[in-house]
Amino acid sequence: MAKLDIAEILKKKPVGANAMINGWVRGYRDSKNMAFLEINDGSSFKSLQIVIDKDKVAFDSKATQLGTALEVAGKVVDSVAVQGTVEIEAAEIKIIGECPLDYPIQKKRHTPEYLRTIPHLRLRTNTFTALFRVRSALAGLVHEFFLKRGFLYLHTPILTGSDCEGAGAVFRVTTQEFDTKSKTEKDYYEDDFFGVRAGLSVSGQLEGEVGAQAFGKIYTFGPSFRAENSNTPRHLAEFWHIEPEVAFATLPDVLQLAEEMFKYLVKGILKQCPDEMKFFEKFFGKDLKTLKKVASDKFAVCEYTDAIEILKKSGEEFQFPVTWGLDLQTEHEKYLTDVFFKKPVFVVNYPKEIKSFYMKQNADGKTAAASDLLVPGVGEIIGGSEREANLDRLLQAMKDRDMPVEPYKDYIELRKFGSTPHGGFGLGFERMLMYLTGIPNIRDVILYPRTVGSIR
Ligand code: 4AD
Ligand code: MG
Repeated sequence: MAKLDIAEILKKKPVGANAMINGWVRGYRDSKNMAFLEINDGSSFKSLQIVIDKDKVAFDSKATQLGTALEVAGKVVDSVAVQGTVEIEAAEIKIIGECPLDYPIQKKRHTPEYLRTIPHLRLRTNTFTALFRVRSALAGLVHEFFLKRGFLYLHTPILTGSDCEGAGAVFRVTTQEFDTKSKTEKDYYEDDFFGVRAGLSVSGQLEGEVGAQAFGKIYTFGPSFRAENSNTPRHLAEFWHIEPEVAFATLPDVLQLAEEMFKYLVKGILKQCPDEMKFFEKFFGKDLKTLKKVASDKFAVCEYTDAIEILKKSGEEFQFPVTWGLDLQTEHEKYLTDVFFKKPVFVVNYPKEIKSFYMKQNADGKTAAASDLLVPGVGEIIGGSEREANLDRLLQAMKDRDMPVEPYKDYIELRKFGSTPHGGFGLGFERMLMYLTGIPNIRDVILYPRTVGSIR
């Protein structure tokens, strides 16, 4: 007898065929003569119903306990209760792995806080089944989008000797034992594995620029690490980062690419994951109509200076008072996206002091050609810019920030040999998942969240 995935049975509906399936019990109902099992094998968001005629099929009562791993043989039949779907009329039920009654997942809606205490088991709930199926589809769509457009997929290093964002939020990497003998930091690192201070990359951008100056259009997609002490629903110490970088491109090109990518991902998920998205609509209030509109309507673009005026005139009492030069906080982003624009908005041309050293300085002497994409419900989801392609101005920006030149030698030299205008952006993969699903906490869109004071 052929072993079939549940996804295959639900899709092909081979009524009359004999089938064998494997899966775990997600639900159980009982009546006088009949019993009904919901089985899920992970191949589909939907579970498959197994119908058992108790007079004909003998089975161990333990087979009906939630979480039990089973092998079921039987015949595919049309469902009596739900038109247009199929179920299995069981002939034989075999226990592959027992699951005792103290199984932490029960047939009720558990709180996200409770589920975070059992990260190895929470994947078996409907929320995480839907989430991880969307997550996998989204990763596929990211690659599809860039590869279709002729981008080269570049693997940038995770171990690094430089700090891309220059904010000092780098995890150190060392093989040194605890040691109090070293007199200076330099002494200490000289004996270390790399002979210098090393860390985990906060962004693949600097190496991405190296790639773009050879291959024109590249993207990276890998983990980035931030040692910021930000205990918020939007920050992880380890997150997945999508970073395209394009040579011969200016800020408007970067915005256009970001908007096209964003819409491609939204449309793709709505198409590939309709059952999962219906689930998020029902249980997380994700408004699918609005999401469809986002995929077709033009995004707003707003100068930073205008955003400050909008916030000043809002009549809102913000915790962080609004003045030109302020780095927008969550409360400001929320007002701009959720109240004022009510759709995704690119804020462009930020004060150069609050942005990174590598951003192109505008002719006004005050702003940088930088842009953040803010979206309703999440806030900043993309950060990008045109890069400073002029050697002298780049060196000056580093000097202004007291940055050492040595770790950035290669990066700086790109400005000497065939320098071009270029730019790119970074999309936080988990923030995109929060946006798509409506799940409000970033800890619940990744397998094992790493946050301040929490790792397992
Ligand atoms: O704005 P960020 O820091 O920009 C960069 O890293 C640039 N080097 C990107 C580039 O131009 N190539 O980060 C980009 C995005 C943010 O908008 C956010 O979505 C996500 O990465 N991000 C985080 N996501 C989760 N947890 C964190 N701690 C994050 N920090 C940034
Ligand atoms: Mg940013």
